[in-house]
Amino acid sequence: MRRIEYSRYGGPEELRLNNVEPKAPCDDQISIRVKAASTNPMDWKIRAGTMKMMTGKNFPRGVGTDFAGVVEAVGRAVTRFKVGDAVFGAMTVKESATFADTILTAEDTAAIKPESISFEEAATLPIAGATAWTALIDTAKLQSGQRVLVNGCLGSVGRAAVQIAKVHGAKVVGTCSPGGVAEAQALGVDEAIDYRGFDPKTYRKSFDVVFDTAGVLSPGQCLPMLTSKGVALHINLNPKKMIGVLFTRRNKAVIAKTPSTILEELARLAANGKLKLSIAGVIPLADAIPAITKLEANGLPKGKLVIVP
Ligand SMILES: NC(=O)c1ccc[n+]([C@@H]2O[C@H](COP(=O)([O-])OP(=O)(O)OC[C@H]3O[C@@H](n4cnc5c(N)ncnc54)[C@H](OP(=O)(O)O)[C@@H]3O)[C@@H](O)[C@H]2O)c1
Repeated sequence: MRRIEYSRYGGPEELRLNNVEPKAPCDDQISIRVKAASTNPMDWKIRAGTMKMMTGKNFPRGVGTDFAGVVEAVGRAVTRFKVGDAVFGAMTVKESATFADTILTAEDTAAIKPESISFEEAATLPIAGATAWTALIDTAKLQSGQRVLVNGCLGSVGRAAVQIAKVHGAKVVGTCSPGGVAEAQALGVDEAIDYRGFDPKTYRKSFDVVFDTAGVLSPGQCLPMLTSKGVALHINLNPKKMIGVLFTRRNKAVIAKTPSTILEELARLAANGKLKLSIAGVIPLADAIPAITKLEANGLPKGKLVIVP
């Protein structure tokens, strides 16, 4: 089977599409024939070695966390899936390797794909959706009627955050690039603001939750925007931001969790038409390396790159 992999940390020039021997699942694993995978910024952060404390030194490594596909074999201890099930999910950061024909992953990293959404749509949901869920629901404990700022509301995490916040009855203010205001409103944002003109100082005590998906707000800029019990959520973490977060209890660092329980929540929303992410392009696995290289250099407007074997 084919898999995109690399043999040392570095840039996209390290990527190769190789033929590798498929393995049988261990006791708690399922083998999945991948129908679609999607890219996340973390794919290249991992490949660049910025997460090597977690990803280690074993090479070659695969690329990609998000997947959707069909179960083709199950380990002896697997209870939730059978051969032929359509599933979606996210491999762990350490094992990530979804840009491939097949994957082996623990059963807790997957959930049943809703019949009403395509494999391509399902593959866009796991990391972006679970990050928004971990932040807004698990960390901020978002309540109906609360006011949320989603900074970067048309990115993949931002789109998921807007939709999850609206389902939970929140009022959403979202920042986006100037051309995106109408699209943000169509997504459900109550007040869409061009981020070039966004000044945190004009939003004193305005939000119960500030969710900085873009990673451009400092903990110090967030605090004045919060109501007395409000929290600011940071997902784009660097050492300086981590220090800022450690010193202020109401700024919180969020690391996405993708257990099957959260995937099932995302599946329920997607099945009801309440959660849908934008797809910027669908490309075959054979053409994925040049497409990833271009994406890293230029970025892609409006959505995710989906890779199909
Ligand atoms: N901690 C975690 O577990 C975790 C999980 C998932 C993602 N992340 C990180 O979170 C970040 C977002 O991920 P993503 O998948 O949503 O990326 P994405 O799809 O590229 O979205 C980023 C968004 O930020 C917007 N943006 C850029 N500059 C901005 C500014 N100055 N103000 C407001 N918005 C701005 C972009 O808008 P334009 O394109 O229109 O400029 C874009 O919509 C990435 O850095 C990713 O690595 C962390």
